[in-house]
Amino acid sequence: MTTTAISTRDTAVNVAPGALPLQAENFTLRRGRVAVLDAVSLTLGEGQTLALIGESGAGKSTLAFAAMGLLQERGVSMEGMLRVGGDDVAHAPEKQLRQWRGTRMGLIFQDASAALNPCFTVLEHLSEPLRRHRGYNRAQCRERALALLDSVGIADPEARLKAYPHELSGGMQQRVMIAIALACEPRLLLADEPTSALDVTIQAQIMALILERVHALGASAVFVLHDLALATQVADRVAVMYAGQIVEEGPAGEVLNHPRHPYTQGLRASAVEFGAERLHPIAGVVPALADMPQGCRFAPRCPRATAQCGERPVPRAFGDVMVACWNL
Ligand SMILES: Nc1ncnc2c1ncn2[C@@H]1O[C@H](COP(=O)(O)OP(=O)(O)OP(=O)(O)O)[C@@H](O)[C@H]1O
Ligand SMILES: [Mg+2]
Repeated sequence: MTTTAISTRDTAVNVAPGALPLQAENFTLRRGRVAVLDAVSLTLGEGQTLALIGESGAGKSTLAFAAMGLLQERGVSMEGMLRVGGDDVAHAPEKQLRQWRGTRMGLIFQDASAALNPCFTVLEHLSEPLRRHRGYNRAQCRERALALLDSVGIADPEARLKAYPHELSGGMQQRVMIAIALACEPRLLLADEPTSALDVTIQAQIMALILERVHALGASAVFVLHDLALATQVADRVAVMYAGQIVEEGPAGEVLNHPRHPYTQGLRASAVEFGAERLHPIAGVVPALADMPQGCRFAPRCPRATAQCGERPVPRAFGDVMVACWNL
């Protein structure tokens, strides 16, 4: 692979030295009166990767989208702190967020075919952030776009620049989206189930590519994943979410191989990837958001629940792992 002649980390990012790539403290996001994220606290260090796991509806995408500053919409209210590169994205004005999107934080969606605009070529897609954030002219955009396509393993980049999304395979579309998200070298990449829309055969390739690019940039990354085994392979840390709350967070191997929270234990016991001969699904269903229990949201399904679980569990440290459960 060749390297580009035009590249430098964006000076417009203006991140204070030592500022954490991602930090949430008691971050609550409500849709109407319902807390979709409930007092989420989380820290991601420089160069670290984090996997967010948990059942459908846990709030994983909501957290990733909030970190992109994409949920400043009617009916959504946010309390507490959600910082990217040291600045609060929950309460920043749209103009500021537009500067940060792409330079501080980039997003890869699950489905590239839906994220790419069918009316624009690959070159047009790649040029947009480069023009906007770096002020590149046509020739510079073209040169950088070629290098970016090369960096994500697209053969014959010259020919691909003119292609429209529908002329590319799913895997290639995903590579293009990775190139777009990383075009302006953000410090934080958010990848929301980046491979689950792809054929199994190319999932591993795309995942390896994302990791390789993240490491090459010295960036940090949050991966929203369903596959627990994959989480241990790609992430330094894992945060387990249940119904809008983080129930357990810590080093990936520790959390997934020696889960402490009853919900993490249940997830593991129901995971095919961990080679369980018989699957033990977690009994019951996630309560409706409008009808959440006051304290621990997992309590109604928890085999260890006690009266104390009516109060919100205070996360406790077990070595490097934080667990929100009264009964450990
Ligand atoms: N635009 C929206 N309007 C109303 N409710 C929403 C909206 N987006 C998400 N929600 C609700 O917020 C909760 C969290 O959703 P979210 O998409 O973040 O979950 P998730 O963990 O990403 O799930 P999945 O694994 O299925 O992608 C869900 O109850 C969902 O129904
Ligand atoms: Mg999701």
